[in-house]
Amino acid sequence: MRSINVGLLGLGTVGQALTQLITQSQPTIRVVKALVRHPIRARGVAVRVTTDPDEIVRDPEIDVVVDVMGGQHPAMEILSAAFQHGKDVVTANKEVMTYYGPALQALARQHNRLLLYEASVAGGMPIIDAITHHLSVVPIDRIEGVLNGTCNFILSHMEEGHDYLEALHEAQRLGYAEQNPEADVEGYDTARKLVLLARIGFHTEIPAEFSAITGITGVTGHDVARLASLGCGVRLVGRALCQDQGISLSVAPTVYRQGHPFLRLQGPQNAVQVTSAVGHFLFEGPGAGGLATATSVLSDILRIRQLVPDREPNPMISLTFNEPETPAICFPLDPETPLPQVLPDELRRTSSYAILSCQLPRELAKLWGLRQYAWGEEEGPTIR
Ligand SMILES: NC(=O)c1ccc[n+]([C@@H]2O[C@H](COP(=O)([O-])OP(=O)(O)OC[C@H]3O[C@@H](n4cnc5c(N)ncnc54)[C@H](OP(=O)(O)O)[C@@H]3O)[C@@H](O)[C@H]2O)c1
Repeated sequence: MRSINVGLLGLGTVGQALTQLITQSQPTIRVVKALVRHPIRARGVAVRVTTDPDEIVRDPEIDVVVDVMGGQHPAMEILSAAFQHGKDVVTANKEVMTYYGPALQALARQHNRLLLYEASVAGGMPIIDAITHHLSVVPIDRIEGVLNGTCNFILSHMEEGHDYLEALHEAQRLGYAEQNPEADVEGYDTARKLVLLARIGFHTEIPAEFSAITGITGVTGHDVARLASLGCGVRLVGRALCQDQGISLSVAPTVYRQGHPFLRLQGPQNAVQVTSAVGHFLFEGPGAGGLATATSVLSDILRIRQLVPDREPNPMISLTFNEPETPAICFPLDPETPLPQVLPDELRRTSSYAILSCQLPRELAKLWGLRQYAWGEEEGPTIR
């Protein structure tokens, strides 16, 4: 079996877990060296470190460059140089893939190299492989997923009676949320992963950014308690739809009836549901964590050994973009205030909430004193 020499970009949580995994289980793979920012920092693994990316991309001994450093720059420049120097690339970096994935793929093809990125979405869950190689044989209509562990932790902690800020501080204390949690709680992290999944699922170009993104910062403990009393719960969900008219992408706190698989997700556990004419496919697994993510990276490294470098990519098709139209559940901010007599496109109403065929414009919801969440259930909008 051909041996593989790996050069790492980054030797943090994932880089160290990957090195340990390779040392323990892969006698034919060797980690040659790793690019880091702080060369004197103590690491749990014995790997030569460098601060010079050229020492990785120009090293003739290295076959595969593995990006576990994160961020758009200098990752994009280093990965480009890696292809130019004849290396295959494996990355766990969703930022670089969201913003530069198509350009990097084109460069990889130009140099007859491979770019694999399983770990960039949902860490240890093999969802990119499943969509690329199996599920998109039949056109996919819908991809929706709970893709951010920080938001899961916060929302499930709020179910225990805490308000948003209390839950956020607890997440930060336990290391589930970063000191600057914006990318997670404002929904941008979920949006990036959704873009990557939609590109491969719908075989089309999808811009790195879209506007229909609502994070969880507006979810109140009071709302969570009120939803629980209706037999419902809320998770941050990214949803990509491909219908006759085109494609729409959205990220929003989304309400489901108790029992829905998304509501049982806690902390780093992720889930993605893919829908096609064949039916629903539900994937669930660890979306983060050093070992889980390292498993996906290692699986890509092993795949490089098996694949012919000039494998044809899926053909691209051209589709238009639409505004997402997600049904919404809304209720008065002040529970003592009745709902407005007439709400547009009302599907169902009780004395305390209404379900609408799509979300109200934000200004109108504010004017009427209503809070609204995406309604995630597919079948008839009935809740107890
Ligand atoms: N952690 C997870 O659970 C997880 C899950 C899925 C995907 N990912 C992705 O995996 C990647 C790595 O995550 P991580 O958690 O391992 O990050 P991390 O612990 O912060 O490690 C990042 C590593 O990259 C190095 N680095 C960062 N910027 C650099 C630069 N400009 N030049 C040289 N070295 C640089 C750092 O060097 P120093 O150590 O010297 O600072 C560190 O070793 C990210 O793209 C992340 O999104 C992580």
